[in-house]
Amino acid sequence: MSITTNAQGHLTIGGVDALALAQEFQTPLYVYDVGAIREQIRAFKRVFEAEPVDYAVSYASKAFATVAMYQVAAQEGAHIDVVSGGELYTALQADFPMQDVAFHGNNKSEAELQLALDHHVGTIIVDNFYELDLLTRLLTATPERTQDILLRVTPGISAHTHAYDQTGQVDSKFGFDLDSGQAEQAAKTSLATPQLNLRGIHAHIGSQIFEVAGFVGATTKLLEILCDWHTRLGFTPAVLNVGGGFGIRYTEADDPLPAEDFVHAIIETAKAAELPFAVPAIWIEPGRSIVGPAGYQLYTVGSRKDVPGLRPYVAVDGGMGDNIRPALYQADYDAVKADAPLAPATEHVHLVGKYCESGDILIDDAPLPATQPGDVVAVLATGAYGYTMASNYNRNPRPAVVFVEGGAAKLVVRRESYADLTVNDLSYL
Ligand code: LLP
Repeated sequence: MSITTNAQGHLTIGGVDALALAQEFQTPLYVYDVGAIREQIRAFKRVFEAEPVDYAVSYASKAFATVAMYQVAAQEGAHIDVVSGGELYTALQADFPMQDVAFHGNNKSEAELQLALDHHVGTIIVDNFYELDLLTRLLTATPERTQDILLRVTPGISAHTHAYDQTGQVDSKFGFDLDSGQAEQAAKTSLATPQLNLRGIHAHIGSQIFEVAGFVGATTKLLEILCDWHTRLGFTPAVLNVGGGFGIRYTEADDPLPAEDFVHAIIETAKAAELPFAVPAIWIEPGRSIVGPAGYQLYTVGSRKDVPGLRPYVAVDGGMGDNIRPALYQADYDAVKADAPLAPATEHVHLVGKYCESGDILIDDAPLPATQPGDVVAVLATGAYGYTMASNYNRNPRPAVVFVEGGAAKLVVRRESYADLTVNDLSYL
């Protein structure tokens, strides 16, 4: 894992001392190295621009969605995908260009679709027949308008990843099935609906994937379908959206390819295919690979439990409420002591949280130097699906989020207060 330190030997994030961040903003704290976010977006763009091929890097904002993050995505010329009215609302608050938004979801409500139409969201990625009907009906209120859509299909490819992170296999809740003819029926219906402008297809095979084979297979399969639709339906695609899912390094045990290699393989597959039409614009939807490695969570060490013959428990001031991934997916992370991140480990501990649940274990087997109450510990590569999956379990306020760049830190989400916890509670008396 790449660790940077300053003259005191302290961990630095974006050029700022992690201990100073903990002091100024308190813990638990989410910290993002904004330069790393920007660099990953740029790295994806460079791969496309070197080819060159038309493209969109559509940041999958479910990985980390805040006004500040949408602002950075816009600055970098990324598109975004949103999956709820709430994400769309947040993007609106950030003045994100709506033309560059793609709206996903397997059960978008009428209100969510209406919100998207009201704000002229660029692309709606239609998932199912119910949505196709609903969208068509909503559009009749504005007969002069058309809406760009993609159809999401399930390519029948199971990615090698955690079962909850697989989405491309046939038995999935997402998208139109191919083999049964549902996807083709959806295409026919779309093409026959004047207010729907079908631009292409989408597939997402899963998340935290380490091999290019799944993406190559999905690209090949999607292009086969598009060729078939070209021949039989007279459809010429403008967009091929292959989703996201590029794996990142959480611990030394992970050995991911550079995320750009996945994109390169996708582009080469598309260019090598014999197509009766020009290679469509290739859209990717990376989430984790853009924000995951750029994120750190800072915690303060509190209590410790030593049981003879057993691994000690070292407890910190956060846990499953701010990072549910270890409990939910058995996800592994590495942690370092912020004042001595390169110090050799002297013991293996269970790094646990403060939640009333035995499963509230952040790192089951964390090699660490000796820690004392008050020490700050940083858990690495926590930028994806941490803040966005946080909860108020045990009525713990959610932590603040700080962006660090060029040696300066800025609060971008304030820490919740106890008053925030009861703001929606109503008295029953
Ligand atoms: N596009 C679509 C349609 C998706 O469903 C997802 C993730 C992505 C893109 C972005 O995938 P990424 O590049 O971030 O892997 N909460 C889980 C991950 C759920 C992913 C859901 N969809 C986790 O923490 O591992």
